[in-house]
Order: sequence, then structure tokens, then C-alpha cells
Amino acid sequence: MLLDVVYHATLAPQVRHAVASASRRGRDSKCRYHRLVQPYFTQDGVTLYHGDARDVLPELPRQSVDLLLTDPPYGMGYGGDTAGGASANNVAADGVRQGIRVIRQVMFETAPLLARDAHLLMFCHWNSWPDFYDALSGYATMRNALIWHKAAGSTGNILANYIRDYEVILYAARGSRDILGEGRYTSILGGYPTVPPKQRDHPTQKPVGLLRHLAARHCPTGGLILDPFAGAGSTLLAAQELGMRSIGVEMDESYCEAAAKRIQQATSQGALFDGAA
Ligand SMILES: C[S@@+](CC[C@H](N)C(=O)[O-])C[C@H]1O[C@@H](n2cnc3c(N)ncnc32)[C@H](O)[C@@H]1O
Repeated sequence: MLLDVVYHATLAPQVRHAVASASRRGRDSKCRYHRLVQPYFTQDGVTLYHGDARDVLPELPRQSVDLLLTDPPYGMGYGGDTAGGASANNVAADGVRQGIRVIRQVMFETAPLLARDAHLLMFCHWNSWPDFYDALSGYATMRNALIWHKAAGSTGNILANYIRDYEVILYAARGSRDILGEGRYTSILGGYPTVPPKQRDHPTQKPVGLLRHLAARHCPTGGLILDPFAGAGSTLLAAQELGMRSIGVEMDESYCEAAAKRIQQATSQGALFDGAA
């Protein structure tokens, strides 16, 4: 039940201001602002907010984020997987124009939170990447477009000539910090198959292994990762597994609940292994 995963902790006073600022902007119903008063969940350096990122982000500490790692609504009107597993509901803000407007607004609110040498990684669809590129390039230097080769066709027009078997990950940076690790890495990321529909908590869930790979190369040890479109918390899980801190924001409560459960589960599995060692 939800109450099991609500922690009334640390950042509540700051977020209280969100009520006022959100009211000033007057974007939505009072009900949502009420829910912003506290983090939905905090544990092991993971903090998850249930709310609209445009309202939560202005309340977070400035220049604190080392890596923006996010998978926004693609603006494709995604309808979900109907074959079972995660719910077939639409992903919020996934209408074509609505999607890009939200991303621009979220980038505007994210910019002051970025550390001077922050990296930014943003998933996007082949059809929406030019808009996403524009949204990112106003705030950081574009460095590359990575390819996640999914090795399996995605949903979409199955009669298309080319299988839609990849997604683009735009990479931008502030300052001159390089990626971490030895040597050079290919820009094509293979070996991370899509999450099977029946194992998904979210219709567009990303593999945690892929996010871990990205976080390890782009976030310094102990750094802070921000995902303003957290979904079922895959980015937060990757950060947790690497011992990094993370902040997620998700406006759909059912995905917040799924994220909190996944993180709790990972913690208890970790504790189990530690005990066995
Ligand atoms: C593509 S999904 C992210 C899936 C995630 N990477 C995962 O693996 O579970 C994008 C998410 O952004 C959420 N979203 C859309 N607009 C939002 C907003 N303004 N603030 C916070 N979350 C939002 C949607 O509810 C959706 O769950």
C-alpha cells in the first residue's frame, strides 16, 4: 500500500514552497500541489517526488546535479503495450506538441540545478530528436547522439521498410569534463535488450543495465543524478546500484508506487546478499 512507501523526510520544507510557486503559476488543480508537499519516497540516497517536474524542480538545490539522465515522453502519443505486463494507459504529456512543450519547460527549470560541469543524456525517438536537440542545446554543448541498439523491433508500423530497432540518446555537457573510464567507447550501445512486456512496470521502461552503463560513464562517484520523468524509476534504480544519489519526479502516482517498490526490493535483495557474504 502507498503508506508503506511514503517517507516524511528531509526535503519537505523546501518543497512546501512549491505549493506557493505552483499556485502563482496557476497551472493545475490544488489537489496536485497538495501532494507536492513531501517527497513521495526517500531511501538510500534516492528521493522521488510525485508531481509535475515543472513545479518540483524550482525547489531543488541549485548547481547540485552532476548528470541529467532522462527519458521524457516522446511526443508520439504512445498508447502502451497491450500484450500484457504494464498498463496500457497513455504516457502523460505524450501528445506530439504537448510533449515538446513540456520538455522545453522542464529544461528551463533544470538548467539552474546543473553543476558547472554537468552532463546531460536524453532518450528520444528518431521522429522527435530534432525537437529534443533544440530543447537541450540552449543549455549545454551538444557532444554526440548515442544509439541504443535494441536488437528487436519496437512498436510502430510493422510494415515499415526498416525495423525501428534503436533509440537515440542525445549527449550534451556543460564545462569540459570528459566521460569516465579508460579508453574510448563506441557510440552504439548494444547488449541491452528491451524489457519484456510482462516484466514491465511501465510501458516504455528502459533496461536498468543500459542506464547503469550511462550513469557510470557520466556521473562521478557519489554524484547526483536527476530524472524529471522518472516513470517506474529505472534511472533511480541504476543510481542506487552504483551507490550514487538520485532525484526523480513522476506525475503519475501508479508509476511512483512501482518505482518505490522496485527500489525497496533492490535494497532488501542487497541486504540479503550482504548478509550471505
Ligand atoms: C518515457 S516515460 C519514462 C519511463 C522510465 N524511463 C522507466 O524506465 O520507467 C516518461 C514519464 O514521464 C512522466 N511525465 C510526463 N510529464 C511529466 C511532468 N511534467 N512531470 C513529471 N513526470 C512527467 C510520464 O507519466 C511518464 O511516466
